[in-house]
Amino acid sequence: MTSHDAPGTAVVTGASSGIGWEYATRLAARGWGLVLVARRAERLDVLAKEALKEGAAGVETLVADLGSPEDLSRVVERASGGDVDLVVNNAGINGYGTFAEVDPGLLTRVVNVNVVALTALTRAAVPGMLVRGRGAVVNVASLLAFAGDLPPDPFPGGPSTPGRRGTR
Ligand SMILES: NC(=O)c1ccc[n+]([C@@H]2O[C@H](COP(=O)([O-])OP(=O)(O)OC[C@H]3O[C@@H](n4cnc5c(N)ncnc54)[C@H](OP(=O)(O)O)[C@@H]3O)[C@@H](O)[C@H]2O)c1
Repeated sequence: MTSHDAPGTAVVTGASSGIGWEYATRLAARGWGLVLVARRAERLDVLAKEALKEGAAGVETLVADLGSPEDLSRVVERASGGDVDLVVNNAGINGYGTFAEVDPGLLTRVVNVNVVALTALTRAAVPGMLVRGRGAVVNVASLLAFAGDLPPDPFPGGPSTPGRRGTR
């Protein structure tokens, strides 16, 4: 699959702050259309206005908790629309602590947001990319995925950062 510089439509998860916000703003300045995903509607609205000023071809906001199957299915439906050229799987959460002690509910949320949603959104968008012969997927991960090799200090809770993308 090839990817090139011509702007298209990008789905950016976790767009309401940090790295996702920055991705969205920079894509907007290059004339991309944006589908912005996060839970905080008011922040997505602020970003949408900013992105349009920057030059975005269009902006949609999808308020969704990617850890919720119902919300995820709405985002998957949009990502499978056939017009998505770029998926930035950026939304991510952490669960620090030793594996045997970490809250099982938190573990489930980490896996749902960091792994299940990423996989489902990618699967939804890739067929359209193949048809058009262009597209890309960016998975934002963390070097903490390799923290299992490190001594407990300075990381709180020791070597387990369960569910980080890329965890061995
Ligand atoms: N900053 C770093 O130094 C660093 C280092 C390594 C890796 N990373 C990774 O980079 C990514 C972005 O990090 P960041 O520092 O920019 O973090 P951030 O500012 O906390 O942003 C996280 C984003 O994810 C969204 N999000 C969290 N849970 C979500 C959920 N259940 N459903 C939908 N959206 C959700 C948040 O939006 P809402 O709260 O509005 O839902 C927010 O927009 C993460 O995957 C993080 O693990 C960051």
